[in-house]
Amino acid sequence: MRIDILTLFPEMFAPLKESIVKRAVDANLVEINITNIRDFALPPHYKCDDEPFGGGAGMVMMCDPIFKAIESVKQDNSKIFYMSPRGTVFNQQIAKKITQYQHIILLCGHYEGIDQRVIDYFNIEEISIGDYVLTGGELPAMVVADCVIRLLPNVIKKESVEEESFSTNLLEYNQYTRPAVYRDMAVPEILLNGNHAKIAEYRKQQSIEITKKNRPDLFLRNNNFK
Ligand SMILES: C[S@@+](CC[C@H](N)C(=O)[O-])C[C@H]1O[C@@H](n2cnc3c(N)ncnc32)[C@H](O)[C@@H]1O
Repeated sequence: MRIDILTLFPEMFAPLKESIVKRAVDANLVEINITNIRDFALPPHYKCDDEPFGGGAGMVMMCDPIFKAIESVKQDNSKIFYMSPRGTVFNQQIAKKITQYQHIILLCGHYEGIDQRVIDYFNIEEISIGDYVLTGGELPAMVVADCVIRLLPNVIKKESVEEESFSTNLLEYNQYTRPAVYRDMAVPEILLNGNHAKIAEYRKQQSIEITKKNRPDLFLRNNNFK
């Protein structure tokens, strides 16, 4: 997969050069390109935003630099997403669907957002990462990119993504590692006895309890877990 990120703040994307995402890039499992929208603005001031027509607070990112930035990376098979609090709320199922695309473009807004004509012309899908407003689309783009990349084949172990929160409508069970006793707190005995069937049943029961408590909405979505 190739991911193009269009932003006015390319230096914010340092986190994508760390950890599992870095390893995926190094192994050519994904290609990430960051484009500065300001590179497509006109001298002498390289202005990218202006006041909103109709009045109102703040500034709106202008069409021309964004059109040109998109056109510089867009291919026939590109799917474009605009990071936006108005968008469909992102989740693991949407992330899985996005893994099917060969090329995605993540467009980051800033200030009051972008001129609507960009969204209309390129038929862009809006994605929100939650019901709150951030200063820009850079953190949302990193959230979407990170979540999608870890689901790509061979980035992390298949079993890890098959057995984690949201892979079904259940949240993950509690995890423990060495030492078996820490400050008088012992790991549940059942996890130490090597009986994998019993461990699986214990973990499933825990997942059910944790989901019921923390996310009753998720729990109710799945009638199989009563
Ligand atoms: C201050 S916000 C603009 C908010 C916009 N005026 C509104 O009321 O919907 C600036 C930019 O941050 C990004 N953004 C803010 N919150 C977001 C969220 N929850 N999900 C995705 N992107 C978000 C968008 O790219 C947006 O254009």
